[in-house]
Amino acid sequence: MSAKLTLKLQNSIDRLPDWSSFVVSDLRQGLLDWYGQWGRDLPWRQTCDPYSIWVSEIMLQQTQVKTVIPYYDRWLTQFPTIATLAAADQQPVLKAWQGLGYYARARNLHRSAQVVMQHHGGRFPHNLEEVLKLPGIGRTTAGGILSAAFNQPVAILDGNVKRVLARLVALPTPVAQASQHLWQLSAMLLAPDRPRDFNQALMDLGATVCTPRKPNCPACPWQIHCQAAQLNLQSQIPMSEACPPIPHKSIGVAVIWNGQGQVLIDQRPEAGLLGGLWEFPGGKVEPGETIAECIQREILEELGIEVTVGEHLITIDHAYSHFRVTLHVHHCQHMAGMPQPIACQQVRWVSLDELDSYPFPQANVQIIQALRSGSAKN
Ligand code: ADE
Repeated sequence: MSAKLTLKLQNSIDRLPDWSSFVVSDLRQGLLDWYGQWGRDLPWRQTCDPYSIWVSEIMLQQTQVKTVIPYYDRWLTQFPTIATLAAADQQPVLKAWQGLGYYARARNLHRSAQVVMQHHGGRFPHNLEEVLKLPGIGRTTAGGILSAAFNQPVAILDGNVKRVLARLVALPTPVAQASQHLWQLSAMLLAPDRPRDFNQALMDLGATVCTPRKPNCPACPWQIHCQAAQLNLQSQIPMSEACPPIPHKSIGVAVIWNGQGQVLIDQRPEAGLLGGLWEFPGGKVEPGETIAECIQREILEELGIEVTVGEHLITIDHAYSHFRVTLHVHHCQHMAGMPQPIACQQVRWVSLDELDSYPFPQANVQIIQALRSGSAKN
């Protein structure tokens, strides 16, 4: 934090702002009026069905509205009820999620649907404590669902809302250090008679007006009460956290062909990153190793087979949330040994046409495209 900024921000996160009840009413009404005029018309706002709203809230956890909408529509066509989702196999569930990322969300949603069937008679629970017990539902998602589906006065605090509230009170710390304070603020402001609209409005204000860069303060219904705007600090608040550098990994990846024109794919372990998805096998390049050496070693360690490494197919750069990868993909020929699932759930030989029914991480989808665009070796 700059010394200048520290000097300007004399407020504390130990106590809530001393707004009069008039100011609180004005903040609530101003936001609700703004929402009436400028709120976004989103598909999950045209329903009070808790399942549809739940699906939307999970998809929206780390993903933008415009990306979510087509997935949301397809999902509800494929799994229209909690019962249909609970009864589905994991593979179509992960396939329907393919491309949205953070696949634990899909696995948890699936698992939670089964819990709702087993323990709640197939009806989404109305009680905050019960909702918080469902896998994949944290406090803000629970608030988002309960307020939108049942109009319950339960506060939310997602990334957009944190930024709006941090600016409103000119928060003197990064948001991560003021979580409890921000939850209290969100609950204090929540309009008790219109919690559904209020929470949706707060999210829209953060997404469309109180944006991370260049917030549109003149369009904001809270401008006159906003401490950051009064101090002209809206570009410096919320204060940034100290970010560690993003690590980068080089991965050798094998498209292993057998004599029947099939390629070998494996299913990742259930726990951990991209759990349950299928992929082309490979692993991290160790210091001093060539890509070919890495591929041969990884394939022997992970699948117990010998391959020869052939032509380069494609190099793919991909960013995950906390690290970046470069995939160096080579055609390989199966030479000896029977593939075994040593470091994965299962392995399978498949034709290029069959690949479509398997859920793959986005970076692997590019490998499939490269294979289809004429680089096939057999
Ligand atoms: N992000 C999380 N929940 C949302 C919602 N209901 N509408 C828009 N963006 C959101």
